[in-house]
Amino acid sequence: MNSQTGFYLSLQPWNIYYIMLDKIKALAEEISRVKPKSLAELDEIRIKYISKKGIISQLFDDFRVVAPELKKEVGKALNELKNLAMDKINTAKEELEIQDQGAHDLDLSAPGDSIGLGSRHPLALVRNRIIDLFGRIGYNVMEGPEIEDDWHNFTALNFAAEHPARDMQDTFFIEKNPDVLLRTHTSNVQIRVMERTQPPIRAIFPGRVFRNEAISARSHCIFHQVEGLYVDENVSFADLKQTLLFFAQELFGVDTKIRLRPSYFPFTEPSAEMDVSCSICGGKGCNLCKYTGWLEILGCGMVDPNVLDACNIDSQKYTGFAFGMGIERITMLLYGVKDIRLYFENDVRFLQQFRSAL
Ligand code: DAH
Repeated sequence: MNSQTGFYLSLQPWNIYYIMLDKIKALAEEISRVKPKSLAELDEIRIKYISKKGIISQLFDDFRVVAPELKKEVGKALNELKNLAMDKINTAKEELEIQDQGAHDLDLSAPGDSIGLGSRHPLALVRNRIIDLFGRIGYNVMEGPEIEDDWHNFTALNFAAEHPARDMQDTFFIEKNPDVLLRTHTSNVQIRVMERTQPPIRAIFPGRVFRNEAISARSHCIFHQVEGLYVDENVSFADLKQTLLFFAQELFGVDTKIRLRPSYFPFTEPSAEMDVSCSICGGKGCNLCKYTGWLEILGCGMVDPNVLDACNIDSQKYTGFAFGMGIERITMLLYGVKDIRLYFENDVRFLQQFRSAL
């Protein structure tokens, strides 16, 4: 029997009744106000109020001496107090546990992780520069399919049925059907555009091309080209040359010189390959240009009349020029990339180096 109970024993039953009810009321108020800040504090509160030796348990002891006719009311108040205390402790416990977990996982005062900015792929950088510079002289951008038929990739481009140039391009065929293939060059878009559009046509066609070649530092089975096409009345070789000079000087610098060497492509006549003066040594001769002073950049020529005819464009009325270049090679020359495989590996250490590029 505890001391408080001893105290009650000397009082009249109705006094005990009043004292207990007052006490219960005061405790209820006290308990509703408690706000433990930690699980440790909460445990102290639990011990203080509802443990075996806690205040409420003591009141239950005292309850035994309450007069029988008053027991009902006091018992009810006491039970309500106990429930209040239990509720309070349980909710506080849940809240504190959630807070506690959060404190481990989440430090709101910690500095944020910086989100590293990506960089454009070097091939995209160069492609965009090419699109931009041709845009300034009136060229649209158009695209065609990567999965192509024989007509658009070869036949309409004046490749004869048994022409060795078909073999030269190491074509990937899709399944066993020789009429469905991965385009070997972006020249297919010339046909796609000319079939649908009458001149004047002035556009470039950037895109991905595929050839069945062994992968090495110098060649890959997937690469990118930009094709150019200009068809109108009176388009001349001089127009081609001037356009390509503008292109070369915009991309490699104003002092760049160009030279055209006769060549052969089935879809152009005459055909040429264009070199630019070496951007490293300025034409004096160095490792990059193999001491020639010149770097080969693209193929070009006047659109063969057979190609215009295949697309229902009147070759008596119209002439045109075309050119095609590899973006990988130009990017290699501009940025000194020595291995074509780097473009496709997407190693961030390689890509990051282009962060500050245009
Ligand atoms: N299609 C050629 C190739 O893949 C490049 C080319 C050469 C495109 C001359 C042209 C051109 O438009 O006139 O190698």
